[in-house]
Order: sequence, then structure tokens, then C-alpha cells
Amino acid sequence: MNTAKTYLTKPVEHLDITQFNVVPLVESMGRTAYTARDLARAAEIFDRMIADPDCGIVLCLAGSLVSAGLKRVFTEMVRCRMVDAIVATGANLVDQDFFEGLGFRHYIAESALKTGVHDAELRNLNIDRIYDTLIDEEQLRVCDETVRKIADDLPPRAYSSREFLAAMGVFLDQREKAAGESAGESTGESIVLEAYRNDVPLFCPAFSDCSAGFGLVAHRAARGSSPVVSIDSAKDFDELTRLKIHLGETGLFMIGGGVPKNFAQDIVVAADTLGVEVPMHKYAVQVTVADVRDGGLSGSTLVEASSWGKVDTLYEQMVFSEATLAVPLIAGYAWHKGSWRNRAHRRLSRILENER
Ligand SMILES: NC(=O)c1ccc[n+]([C@@H]2O[C@H](COP(=O)([O-])OP(=O)(O)OC[C@H]3O[C@@H](n4cnc5c(N)ncnc54)[C@H](O)[C@@H]3O)[C@@H](O)[C@H]2O)c1
Repeated sequence: MNTAKTYLTKPVEHLDITQFNVVPLVESMGRTAYTARDLARAAEIFDRMIADPDCGIVLCLAGSLVSAGLKRVFTEMVRCRMVDAIVATGANLVDQDFFEGLGFRHYIAESALKTGVHDAELRNLNIDRIYDTLIDEEQLRVCDETVRKIADDLPPRAYSSREFLAAMGVFLDQREKAAGESAGESTGESIVLEAYRNDVPLFCPAFSDCSAGFGLVAHRAARGSSPVVSIDSAKDFDELTRLKIHLGETGLFMIGGGVPKNFAQDIVVAADTLGVEVPMHKYAVQVTVADVRDGGLSGSTLVEASSWGKVDTLYEQMVFSEATLAVPLIAGYAWHKGSWRNRAHRRLSRILENER
């Protein structure tokens, strides 16, 4: 008889962009056509924003990217100063990244499983499926519960998601140090941890729409009528807008689309609302499978965003591709070009902490 162990055997292994020099490949793609040429231009624009000493870079993550093996691409970008702030969905940061930071893994589902015919069996075994990957739901509940404990330990007040995610970074940092001291428990590489250590602020505008939501609901229920920890998404918007005002020139690397794309683009308009004139995002690259025909935000072109006063049109590029293919090439190209080696460490979290 099958058990959860039957299915949860082969972990998803995170791709390491430092291991493959894709520069010649991407440059060759730039001399071809269609999406390959678009991708090469996007990679060149991303490298250009990294090389621009006056440009702050915001990475935007939607979709299920961490579970798909892209986590190390993003931790590497944080470590190598290729990104100064991140706006992401809770799925990426909490259910998938913090989850792996706790030492859990995502698993490869054999091809037969992605047809869906085994989903009832998976349900009985407490296994959740994201297309061709699998998750142990009991481990996911540990993730929910850990978020609740972190909330329980904080003084009750309204926090930006950025502040709460920093507390999650502190939790992983302390956990890893304790594990190191006892030379026992294995801990996982994590964007939340790397960002905390490098003072890269993380924003999650829909923070409760993920595992964190379950933890916060449990926290509120346990507190009854006593004061609670809550998440203030307007505070997030205010903080990211203040970073835009501080940085002036900015570039966006957006993956998927969704809430993170709009939230990061809108800070130009929000600064205007505060009476501060800031430049539009000077550079913008987006990788998505969404298309333009439904009028939705995710597929809307960056040229269209210029009509809203959000993105400049000189250095923008849409790449219509699934992210697991395009992102390692774009990020790998920029990593191997090495412009990040001369880039300043902006440590934007400190700026927000000092303003409090
Ligand atoms: N995605 C999940 O499995 C999951 C799990 C838990 C919670 N959530 C929550 O649901 C909300 C919406 O999240 P979302 O980002 O998954 O959905 P979304 O549908 O809003 O995704 C945004 C856009 O990104 C595009 N996209 C997604 N994956 C892509 C890929 N691999 N390559 C290229 N383009 C891609 C989609 O086509 C869509 O247009 C968030 O608040 C998130 O935290 C999602």
C-alpha cells in the first residue's frame, strides 16, 4: 500500500545560476528571433540596471517559483546585490520559502500524478500538489503554526508585512545559529533569511493569502478580545513609496505579474500623491505567460504602464515565457556579466528601521 513516503522521495533541487555561464547562449539568442531575442534584450536590460550606479532594483515575484526550483536564483541575487527590495506573494515567501527555511522540501511528482487521477489518493495521504510537485501538508501546518508563534511573541500592534517578514528572518537566523551550535538539525537556504541578513526589505501586500494567514487567524482566535498583531498593507505601500522617494531612479524585474507587479509599479503614483515628484521606473523587465487580450494586469505590456505614468519606455521588455525557463537565463546572464561586483549594498531595511 502506498504511504506519503512512496510519493515524497525526490526533492526539487534548486537551480544554481553560478554553475552555468549562459552569456554566450543568451547573446546568440539575441541574434535570432521571437521570444529568444526578447529574452536576450531583457537580460541585457537587467544587466544594465545592475550596472547603473544610481538605480535601485525591485524584484517582483508571483506564481509558484520557489517550489519550482528557483529559490537559489533569488537568494543568490540577494547575496550579490542584484536586488535591493522584493515584493512577492505569500505563496512564494511563506508557504514555499519560509517552509523550506524550516528544513522542509518540495518533491518531484512523477508524470502520472500531474494528470490529476491520483489526487484523491494524495488527499488521503495529506499530500498537496502544485502541478508536478508535491508537498507534505503536515509540514505546511508546522509552517502555519510557526507563523502563529512568531506573532504570539511580538508586541501586539499593526505591522507592515515588511516588519513581520523581518521577524520571520530573525526566527530563521536564531534557529540556524542554534542548530549550528548543536551541530544537529538541518536548516534550509531561504530568501527570507538571506534578505534579513542583507537588509533587503521584503514586501508581501496580500500577506494573509497564504500559510501566514492561517497562522494569523489562529493568533487572533487565541487572543480573543486582547490586542493582536495585525498586518497593515497601507503601511507597506507607504514604506515602499518612501524607498522610491529615497532611491529616485529604479528598475523592476517582474516575474509572473499579479499583485506584486502592480504594487511596485504604483509607488511612482503614490509618491505623487504625497506631493513628491519622482521619475517613472527607468528600467522594467517582465516574464509572464499571461497575455494582453483580457485587459488583466499580469499580461498588460510595460508600454501600457507608461500611459499610467509608471514605467519609462526606453528600457522595457516583456518576455512571454514560463518563468522556470526564462528566469535562470536572464538572472544567469546578469550574474556572469558580473556588473553586480561593483554595485553598492543599499541595505534599504536599515533606512526604514531608522525612520521608525
Ligand atoms: N500559486 C500558488 O500555488 C499559491 C499557493 C498559496 C497561496 N497563493 C496565493 O494566491 C495569490 C495569487 O498568487 P499567484 O501568483 O499564484 O497567482 P496569479 O494567478 O495572480 O499569478 C499572476 C500571474 O503570473 C503568471 N504566472 C504564474 N506562474 C507563472 C510562471 N511559472 N511563469 C510565467 N508566468 C506565470 C500567471 O499567468 C498570472 O498571470 C497570492 O496571494 C498567493 O500568495 C498561491
